[in-house]
Amino acid sequence: MDPRLDTRRRQWETKAVLREVYADLYRRMAGALAPGPTLEIGGGSGNLKAYAPQVCSTDVLEAPWLDAIADAQALPFAPSSFSNIVMFDVLHHLVRPRVFFSEAIRVLQKGGRLVMVEPAITPVSGVFYRFLPPEPVVFRADPLAETAEEARRDAFEANQAVPTLLFRKRRVEFQRAFPQLVFRDTSFLSLFTYPHSGGFRSWSLIPSAAVPGLLRLEDALLPILGPLMAFRMFVVLERT
Ligand SMILES: C[S@@+](CC[C@H](N)C(=O)[O-])C[C@H]1O[C@@H](n2cnc3c(N)ncnc32)[C@H](O)[C@@H]1O
Repeated sequence: MDPRLDTRRRQWETKAVLREVYADLYRRMAGALAPGPTLEIGGGSGNLKAYAPQVCSTDVLEAPWLDAIADAQALPFAPSSFSNIVMFDVLHHLVRPRVFFSEAIRVLQKGGRLVMVEPAITPVSGVFYRFLPPEPVVFRADPLAETAEEARRDAFEANQAVPTLLFRKRRVEFQRAFPQLVFRDTSFLSLFTYPHSGGFRSWSLIPSAAVPGLLRLEDALLPILGPLMAFRMFVVLERT
C-alpha cells in the first residue's frame, strides 16, 4: 500500500474537526446523487465509505479498504455501468482531464451524474493556495488539451487551477467539448471553516464543536462572499 494513503487515513481517524468539516461536504454530495450504483474515483484514504458504504470506492493506488484499483483515465468498467461518479479533490490531480471526461460519459448511464468537490481559486483562496505548498496553481495549463505534455506523473501531483479553468474561466469551451455533460450545479463552498481546520494537516485553529455553527454562518454568507473568498467548488454534471 502507498504510505501516503495510510498517513491520510490516520489523520482522518485522529482529527475530529476534519471529519466534521468533510461530513457536511459528503452530505451535499449524497444529496446530488441520482438513484442507482455509485462509483467513487480517487477514494484515497476511503473516508467517504463511512458515510456511503454502498459506494464502489476505487483509486489508482492500492489500499485494503478500497474495492478496486482504477485509473480515472482508463476506467475498467463496462459502458453505462453507473448512475453516479463521485470525486472528492481528484480532478485537479489528473494528467489528462479530457480523457477522463470521455471515460465518465462512457461509464455513466443517461441521466447519471458526475459529482465533484474541488478547489476553487478566488481572489482570497488563490493567495493561500499559491503560497501554502504543496499543490501548485498554474493558470497557463490547458486542461482541455488532447494530449498531456507528461502522460504519467505521481498520483499526488496536481494543478489546483484545473477546476476553476474548466468550470468557470473556460466553461463555454468545456461545454462545447462535452455537450453530453450538462451543468446542474457549480456553486462555491468553504469560506473560513475549512481553511481554519487545517484540512489534512496536523493543526487546527478551531475546535470540532464550533464547526456546525460556523458552517451555518458560511451558508448565509456564501451568496455574497463566495466569488471573493471560497476555497472550494461543488460541481454537478448530468449525462444527457
Ligand atoms: C487529494 S487525494 C483525495 C483523496 C480522497 N478523495 C479524499 O478526499 O481524501 C487525491 C486522490 O486522487 C488519486 N488519483 C490521482 N490520480 C488518479 C487517477 N489517474 N485515477 C484515479 N485516482 C487518482 C490519488 O491517488 C489520491 O488518492
